[in-house]
Amino acid sequence: MTDEDYPTDDPAVVTAGLPYANGDLHVGHLRSYVNADALTRGLRKLGQHAIYVSGSDMHGTPIAVNAAEEGVDPEEFALRHHEQYEATFPKFNVDFDQYGHTHEETNTELTKEFVRAWEANDHVHEKEIDVAYDPDADQWLPDRYVEGTCPYCGEHARGDECDEGCQRHLEPGEIEDPVSTLTGNPAEYRRREHKFLRLSDFQDHLKGFIERLEGTSNAQNQPREWIEGELQDLCITRDMDWGIDYPGESGEAANGSEDLVLYVWVDAPIEYVSTTKQYSERTGDLDWESVWKDGDGEIIHVIGRDIIQHHTVYWPSMLEGADYTEPRAVCATGFVNIDGKGLSTSKNRAIWAEEYLDEGFHPDLLRYYLATASGFERDVNFSWDQFAQRVNTELADAVGNFAYRALLFANRNFGGTPQDAELSDEVETEIAQAMDDYEDALNDYDLRTAGERAVALARFGNEYIQRNEPWKLDDEAAAPVIRDCVQLVKAVAVLLQPFLPEKTDDLWSQIGEDGNAADATVADCLQAPAAEFGEPEELFEKVEDERVAELDEKLEAKIEAASSEADDDGDVTDDEDDASTELEPLADDRISFEDFQDLDLRVGEVVSAEGIEGADDLARLEVDIGHEVRQVVAGIKQLHDLDALPGTKVVVVANMEQSELFGVESNGMVLAAGDDADLLTTHEDSEPGTKVL
Ligand code: 2FM
Ligand code: ZN
Repeated sequence: MTDEDYPTDDPAVVTAGLPYANGDLHVGHLRSYVNADALTRGLRKLGQHAIYVSGSDMHGTPIAVNAAEEGVDPEEFALRHHEQYEATFPKFNVDFDQYGHTHEETNTELTKEFVRAWEANDHVHEKEIDVAYDPDADQWLPDRYVEGTCPYCGEHARGDECDEGCQRHLEPGEIEDPVSTLTGNPAEYRRREHKFLRLSDFQDHLKGFIERLEGTSNAQNQPREWIEGELQDLCITRDMDWGIDYPGESGEAANGSEDLVLYVWVDAPIEYVSTTKQYSERTGDLDWESVWKDGDGEIIHVIGRDIIQHHTVYWPSMLEGADYTEPRAVCATGFVNIDGKGLSTSKNRAIWAEEYLDEGFHPDLLRYYLATASGFERDVNFSWDQFAQRVNTELADAVGNFAYRALLFANRNFGGTPQDAELSDEVETEIAQAMDDYEDALNDYDLRTAGERAVALARFGNEYIQRNEPWKLDDEAAAPVIRDCVQLVKAVAVLLQPFLPEKTDDLWSQIGEDGNAADATVADCLQAPAAEFGEPEELFEKVEDERVAELDEKLEAKIEAASSEADDDGDVTDDEDDASTELEPLADDRISFEDFQDLDLRVGEVVSAEGIEGADDLARLEVDIGHEVRQVVAGIKQLHDLDALPGTKVVVVANMEQSELFGVESNGMVLAAGDDADLLTTHEDSEPGTKVL
């Protein structure tokens, strides 16, 4: 690994977090896989040798529980979903160089090698711990077989993760008030020996690692408190049949651990190495050992923000403990919300991958939306309305319209690129600046800025052609303008290729270039365009308002249907972050109007909003409340697109006592509704400072 700018001399291995092989893919999944795919393609644009690998996560209770519900064998169940993923990803041009699964022999063997290396390096020990047990089912209750209360934040937690609360990993025995998900009865804690990876052995290594780590700031900052605190050992075994057997010295099950399998979070990340190895053996393109063991490679993990702890604490320890190298970057994406609310598969508030395609939309449009709708680590809101707006204004109006106008003129008047004209200094400078900005953005793992820069170049093209009005000129005078425009189209095609691989290939052939846009690098933006090409075709179709209304109706109807079904069943378990149905009870105590008047509520207007470094959820807002601009800290960092907030009217408790959060002074409070922190705003146009009564 180097800390040099991309492109480096070593190959980059980009990985995407492994999807559990237990359900259909939806936009929430696609965001990570599309981003990792676009990042890989973007790095290649810079001239970086880069491959993209991942695989299906086949083991653990997420699979075992779902397979049992269907009454099928976990292997058969997981393989079916794995095959479905293998078929679905390419439909979104998510183009893995290797996509495997954790149950394959390469991963089984490599996982056992890792464990043996930890044992040989004295990082594993055995300890007796409390493990949840269901006496009625006469069964141990690993991970998702048990639910209860998170000991850290008090929220409802499932098995090994506090996914509705603080997002922490939970060790066996930690959940309070455990309940068996098999019978719904309270579970008992019984003593049981398990194997542990001693994470404290890696504390110093982790402290250095987190300083070196590149990627998104949430991945660099969130783990600091864990790494600087006391590191708890990681239990690496589970009482289950489904999984990879714990290896003994001779390769057989170790004494006393014959009925233990490895925890799913042991063999899952090792699949990153296994798929690189499979790729290496299949193609001979790179040496997996030199990347993963000797550090001659740039390892970049793209993950969801819910698994930062696994990738910045456990995984680097696992690598170090087995004498492997560390990743260069961890890029953690935010979640995808639907119409401003948490995506919920159980409530069918989701856009499924196949459903999107069945609506007849091109996969590249969703890719573009997901990769550029917000910064990498922020949540993305998906709504059909915003989708239509972005397709219509950014892709159809800016990119498509410019390319079509320029190429039509070029073809009709010159049969292609005018040959007797030079590229102007103005356009050359503009393209060179876009290339620089694009390279910087990709070096910052900032896909949104890279995509925006490409679209900004197309907007410049539209403005340029409009300003120079070649249609009013004779061919001789029009030639340099059109020469410039074709160059701009070519540059836009190159820069947008990571986001819109199929659409830009189409554009590439429209401008008469050989090969495809994937082979072009940023340097090609300034290479002379082909002399001849035919009549262009429109690249993008606009999404009409009626279509949006129809799609919104369908979405509402399916959510409604899911909720009636759940009412009929009488039981619904909410598997994702949606708290909208459980209303807090109304307060019994009434207050007087005088008491209410103690609150000085004012209309405010957000002037600026930015995330607070080191804090996962907090944002620093500057809010104009008429008399003055106040600095207010609000827990909305992950829940809102902060860039879109300036100009938004909010309601501020102006006489809230001052406080300090993460070292930042908060002078007021912004009102927001519910767990999604839906910001309260004004209905009409009240001025900042207006009293709210
Ligand atoms: O949280 C998940 O969905 C896991 N299947 C991710 C595994 S990523 C990796 F480390 F293997
Ligand atoms: Zn918690």
